[in-house]
Amino acid sequence: MRIGVFCSGGDAPGMNACVRSVVQTAVSAGHEVVGIRRGYQGLLDENFFVDATGNPRLTLRSVAGWSRFGGTFLHSSRSEQFRAVEGQRKAAEILCRHEIDALIPIGGDGTFTGAVELAKCWDGQVVGAPGTIDNDLMGTDFTIGFSTAVQTAVEAVDKIRDTAESHERMFLIEVMGRHSGFIAVHTAIASGAEAVCVPETPTDIPQILRDLCRLKESKSSIMMVVAEGDELGGAEILNRQLQEHGCPFATRVVILGHLQRGGNPTPEDRLLASQIGKAAVDAILAGRTCVMAGVLGGRDAYTPLQETFATHKPLPVELLELVERLAN
Ligand code: F6P
Repeated sequence: MRIGVFCSGGDAPGMNACVRSVVQTAVSAGHEVVGIRRGYQGLLDENFFVDATGNPRLTLRSVAGWSRFGGTFLHSSRSEQFRAVEGQRKAAEILCRHEIDALIPIGGDGTFTGAVELAKCWDGQVVGAPGTIDNDLMGTDFTIGFSTAVQTAVEAVDKIRDTAESHERMFLIEVMGRHSGFIAVHTAIASGAEAVCVPETPTDIPQILRDLCRLKESKSSIMMVVAEGDELGGAEILNRQLQEHGCPFATRVVILGHLQRGGNPTPEDRLLASQIGKAAVDAILAGRTCVMAGVLGGRDAYTPLQETFATHKPLPVELLELVERLAN
């Protein structure tokens, strides 16, 4: 078989480890892997990864040592051209012409939405691998890149706490997560933050102010982790509103931004990416299509692609409550 693999959407630490696992598993079983550069746009541009001998394929040698690196050596993109049906048909025609039998897109909800559309006009197999720091896909306990993003965010909050303590200030630290509070909640608990604001729950300014006034009696610094997708529109806006309504602390805002997408993947992300890469190849060899390979409770798990992004992955209420309980 000829299996195409690419990374699409926001990059995530561990994507390289996933590609390596796909190549190792497929090539050692006698199959060929074509690396498509720059996601769907690279597919439309027929932009393939070329090995040392000038052939468009990924060999064991090409991916040796990839696991420890962040980013994606295949590069990534968000393609406008592929969003249109004409783009999807053109991609299908290119896949047929290059005799690619199956595709492993590594990415998040946008990538899988595209994969579902592609499958409507292409006969090959499509098996997705969840690669996004947001951890917002159903069908896997964690997505590739989430662990590293949380680690980066926690390290940042720890450092900010030092200066916050010195100046007895409150910091609002904005983390990524367009529609999801997973990074925010995990970061808040692991860093001992006093408060968290996420898209999944209403942000109640009067209640936050009451909590802050109470905390002022016992704490000299406050860490509030804010998901970028919080309904008020992020940390800057939230800070303005808190100040306008009598926040008892002097405040500063830090937006962590793309820092969270970089860095060497944690061992957890490397392990997850390796497991998922192998599971994706297994699914293809078993004749499956239109599924995502994930890991649930430590085991390989397959979920129809459409279901991975059709519903919002619920944030465990226990974790939200834990932030509150530990703040007091
Ligand atoms: O989906 C991953 C993600 O990092 C989101 O958390 C964030 O909102 C978005 O990508 C940022 O995308 P871009 O790098 O295109 O600005």
